Amino acid sequence: MCVWHEHISLQRGFHHIVSTDISKVCIAKQQERYRDLPGLSWLCSDMTNMSEISRSSFDAVVEKATLDALLAAEKSPWDVNEVTAKRVHSALLEISR
Ligand SMILES: C[S@@+](CC[C@H](N)C(=O)[O-])C[C@H]1O[C@@H](n2cnc3c(N)ncnc32)[C@H](O)[C@@H]1O
Repeated sequence: MCVWHEHISLQRGFHHIVSTDISKVCIAKQQERYRDLPGLSWLCSDMTNMSEISRSSFDAVVEKATLDALLAAEKSPWDVNEVTAKRVHSALLEISR
């Protein structure tokens, strides 16, 4: 989820990487930035509901600073409101299915 490619290099054996983000602008910018690199694809998607992605279709999922975005309105990550807790739970279910 939301993985930019300077962090997972293709030289380390990852030949097909799908990056996601909820922001169309973000996806468009990264698509343009990495347009010359092979093996990358892009998806505008909400990490709390990724029904467009089939079950068990990834070997690995990397979450990098996206759960933080779900917690942005909270004062403490250890004491979140019910809505935030449900959204984080949904995102974790999406990662593990
Ligand atoms: C701190 S940035 C991390 C960016 C990227 N992972 C990186 O390593 O540079 C958080 C990102 O989460 C995205 N985001 C926020 N809520 C989201 C959601 N519900 N689903 C998917 N992406 C979301 C934002 O658009 C933003 O690009």
